[in-house]
Amino acid sequence: MDLGGKTALVTGGSGDIGGAIARALAAAGVDVAVTYVGSAQRAAESVAAVQAAGRRGVAIQLDQRDAASIGACAATVLKAFGRLDILVNNAAWNIGIPFGDLDALTSDIWDRVLETNLRGPFLLARAFAPELRRHKTGRIVNIASVAGLSPGGSSIAYASSKAALIHLTHCLAVAMAPGVTVNCVAPGLVEGTRMADRLPEAVRQGARSQAVLGRTGSAEDIAAQVVTFCRAESVTGQVVVVDGGMPVGMR
Ligand SMILES: NC(=O)c1ccc[n+]([C@@H]2O[C@H](COP(=O)([O-])OP(=O)(O)OC[C@H]3O[C@@H](n4cnc5c(N)ncnc54)[C@H](OP(=O)(O)O)[C@@H]3O)[C@@H](O)[C@H]2O)c1
Repeated sequence: MDLGGKTALVTGGSGDIGGAIARALAAAGVDVAVTYVGSAQRAAESVAAVQAAGRRGVAIQLDQRDAASIGACAATVLKAFGRLDILVNNAAWNIGIPFGDLDALTSDIWDRVLETNLRGPFLLARAFAPELRRHKTGRIVNIASVAGLSPGGSSIAYASSKAALIHLTHCLAVAMAPGVTVNCVAPGLVEGTRMADRLPEAVRQGARSQAVLGRTGSAEDIAAQVVTFCRAESVTGQVVVVDGGMPVGMR
C-alpha cells in the first residue's frame, strides 16, 4: 500500500524508537501525531522532524495509564488530521528488577507496567477501531520485545506485559479483520537507545557477539519494519523479531 497522504499516531513518540518511527513514517509520506508523557521537548523534536519532511505533525500529551484520557487523545488526533489510518503502539514503561527478587516486584509496579504496556495499547486500539475499520485499510503495529518471547528483559512484569502484547496482536488481528491488519515488531537490544545504554557494556557486547549479523539493530531498523508492516496488504497477526539474528531464538 502506498502510504502517501495517510495519517498515523505513534505513542511514545518522544522516545528513541518512537521518534525514529515518526521520522520513517513521515519519510514515507505520512502525517504523524506523537504522544508523550513528560518529555515535551523530545516530542517537539519528533514533530519538527515530521514537519521537516513536509508532513503535518502534532504532539499530544497522554498518560495511557489513564483510561479516561484515551478517548480525548483520539478526539484530538481526529480533529487535527480528520482521519486515522495507522496506530503504532510503541510507548512502554519499565524498571529493572532481577527475576529472582520476587518481593521487589510489588503490585504497584506490576500494575504500572501492565497498565502502560498492555492495557494502554488495547484501549487505544479500541478507541480507534471504528475509524481504522472505516477506511478498510487500517493498520495497527505493536512494539513488543524479545522479552515477550523468552524469559528475559528488565523484569518479570515487563516480560509478561510484552508476551501478552504479542498475544493481543494475534487476538486483535482476528477481531479487526478484514479491514485492519494488526502486526508486531519484537526488538532485541536496540543500540543507541537510552534503554539499551542503561545496560552494562558487557551485556551489550554479549548480545552483539551472539547475533549472527554481529549487531543487534537500531531504532531505524525497528522503524523500517513498522513501515513494512504498514505497506503490506496481506500480512496480519505476525511478529517479526529484529535482533540481529540470535540462533537460540530462531524457530
Ligand atoms: N530500547 C530497547 O533496547 C528496546 C528493546 C526491546 C523493546 N523495546 C520497546 O520499544 C519501545 C520503545 O522503547 P524506547 O527504547 O524508545 O523507550 P524510551 O526512549 O524510554 O521511550 C518510551 C516512551 O514511552 C512513553 N511512556 C512511558 N510511560 C508512558 C505512559 N504511562 N503513557 C504513555 N506513554 C508513556 C515515554 O514518554 P515520556 O518520555 O514523555 O515520558 C516515551 O515516549 C517500547 O515498547 C520498548 O518496550 C525497546
